[in-house]
Amino acid sequence: MTSNTTTTAAASGTWTLGDMVVNRIGLGAMRLPQTGTALVPDAVPRDRGQAIAVLRRAVELGVNHIDTAAFYFSSLRSANELVNSALAPYPDGLLVATKVGPARDAAGRWAPHAMTPEALRGQVEENLRQLGRDHLDLVYLRIVHDHDRFAERFGALAELRRAGLIRHLGLSNILPRHLEEARAIAPVVCVQNPYGIGAFPEQDQVQRLCGEQGIAFVPFYSMAGTRREDGASGDDEPAINVIARAHEASTAQIRLAWTLHKGAHVLAIPGTGDPVHLEQNIAAGAIRLTEDELAQLNALHDRTV
Ligand SMILES: NC(=O)c1ccc[n+]([C@@H]2O[C@H](COP(=O)([O-])OP(=O)(O)OC[C@H]3O[C@@H](n4cnc5c(N)ncnc54)[C@H](OP(=O)(O)O)[C@@H]3O)[C@@H](O)[C@H]2O)c1
Repeated sequence: MTSNTTTTAAASGTWTLGDMVVNRIGLGAMRLPQTGTALVPDAVPRDRGQAIAVLRRAVELGVNHIDTAAFYFSSLRSANELVNSALAPYPDGLLVATKVGPARDAAGRWAPHAMTPEALRGQVEENLRQLGRDHLDLVYLRIVHDHDRFAERFGALAELRRAGLIRHLGLSNILPRHLEEARAIAPVVCVQNPYGIGAFPEQDQVQRLCGEQGIAFVPFYSMAGTRREDGASGDDEPAINVIARAHEASTAQIRLAWTLHKGAHVLAIPGTGDPVHLEQNIAAGAIRLTEDELAQLNALHDRTV
């Protein structure tokens, strides 16, 4: 497997998110608080030392874009607390992105989303406290499609941005129409949606739209795919296996590399709490797929959607 410890996140190239330049391979923190199958209360808490070591190693290897949320926690560990403990005082140039909207109660059960400006402000302040910051670099409004009050909720975050609590705004789990609606209210620097080989066609549309408008597209589940919270599995797609062998890489690395080949605006946030996987994911940023390999993977993508 491609796991060259000298490969750094810089090998993936860079993108300017608002006024911050980040390497295109980042790190998703959702997997840090727990191992096991899901973001559920009975998931097995991850070893604290290992989670902290993964965060520090990521930064050492050039990762400067970490994706987290206050609602990423297991019974013992919180992603935000781990990020704070591992990395504060935060190095210059490190962008920590978080999300608001979804909520979990103290027992870990999903709770109603934050629907009012007051509730959204409360979630922003919760992230500030947990991360030990005076402002947040990037805050996504993470929505559910049939929620109403989208403009009002995004407007509330735009207000917090004007007040200096938030530096940049993003959107997550959106449809194309949300991007247009939000951009009429405030600048949007990135969109975080589920995307990878086999993603639904509307996600291709969002990904392309972002590229056309100079907005970063940050896919999640790019390795886990339809297994979602259950995580990546041994890949059973023969074409991906053949390409992986040709690059002495894993199938997870090839899935990740395929997303990065969609355009310079695509920023990866592979989720892991495993130090070996971390290095493999960073190394995936150096994989250069051939035209023929891309054609095969694109065909697989089109077949599976
Ligand atoms: N906006 C949203 O609604 C939303 C939803 C979900 C996730 N996210 C964000 O997106 C990030 C990425 O999503 P994700 O973590 O769910 O899925 P993912 O990155 O597609 O896959 C993560 C899964 O793959 C495993 N894995 C990681 N690297 C691997 C490797 N090199 N080889 C084999 N297996 C590997 C991980 O287990 P190990 O821990 O054992 O490596 C974990 O089970 C999250 O961490 C979170 O920050 C956002």
